[in-house]
Amino acid sequence: MKRKPLLAGNWKMHTTVIEACHLAAEIGRCSAGIDDRDVLLAPPFTVLSEVAHVLKDSKIMIASQNVCWEDSGAFTGEISPTMIKSAGGTAAIIGHSERRQIFHEDNRMINKRVQGALKFGLVPILCIGETLEEREEERTFIVLTGQIRDGLAGVSAGDMKKTIVAYEPVWAIGTGKTASKEQAQEVHAFVRNLLAEMYEKDIADSVRILYGGSVNVDNVDGLMAQADIDGALVGGAALKAESFCRIINFT
Ligand code: PGA
Repeated sequence: MKRKPLLAGNWKMHTTVIEACHLAAEIGRCSAGIDDRDVLLAPPFTVLSEVAHVLKDSKIMIASQNVCWEDSGAFTGEISPTMIKSAGGTAAIIGHSERRQIFHEDNRMINKRVQGALKFGLVPILCIGETLEEREEERTFIVLTGQIRDGLAGVSAGDMKKTIVAYEPVWAIGTGKTASKEQAQEVHAFVRNLLAEMYEKDIADSVRILYGGSVNVDNVDGLMAQADIDGALVGGAALKAESFCRIINFT
């Protein structure tokens, strides 16, 4: 089954209001008229509405970099699904390895976030990935299975169709070390098989699985040529319009 490619830029903790508006405008210009692939930007919370405003006439989707499971209340420092939607967002990155590693978010909390996003109508982009130590100990598939099974606990088949998965090996994020296209494909195929076991083959075949971890202008074409790689979640190379635009236009 052919899935529409999705090129996503995760701006992490970068960009002031002015920088974000400039970058969004440039990306809007270079992706105008592109129909055969989707583009998504995940700017910091503080500029979600500005970026959405700059891109209001484009098809670019806006995502937050995290989301709370509750829609309002005493959750200092969190952001609710409705807040994200009211700022123009339609999706949320959840369980990014920086959230897992630096802020100690575990599969249970990540699952609550996934469920919250779905309940309030945001597309969850569930990030999974093994550390270098886990890979070296040959625990990659065990770790990923736990992240998928626990992260998606309670997610119905109907909701799974709306969900996006991003495989981001921790050792490849921001390090310049990409997984080889063969390594990435092997994991993507594994994840798709696991989803087929948990749901049904048709659902597994329809879920977009993005690769992330040092995606750049030189490796994007090879990665995107893999059968089970449906897109990229890009950090560093998404902060410059020139490189992100080249990534969007992968061949
Ligand atoms: P990177 O980040 O492209 O800078 O490695 C990817 C990510 O963390 O989403």
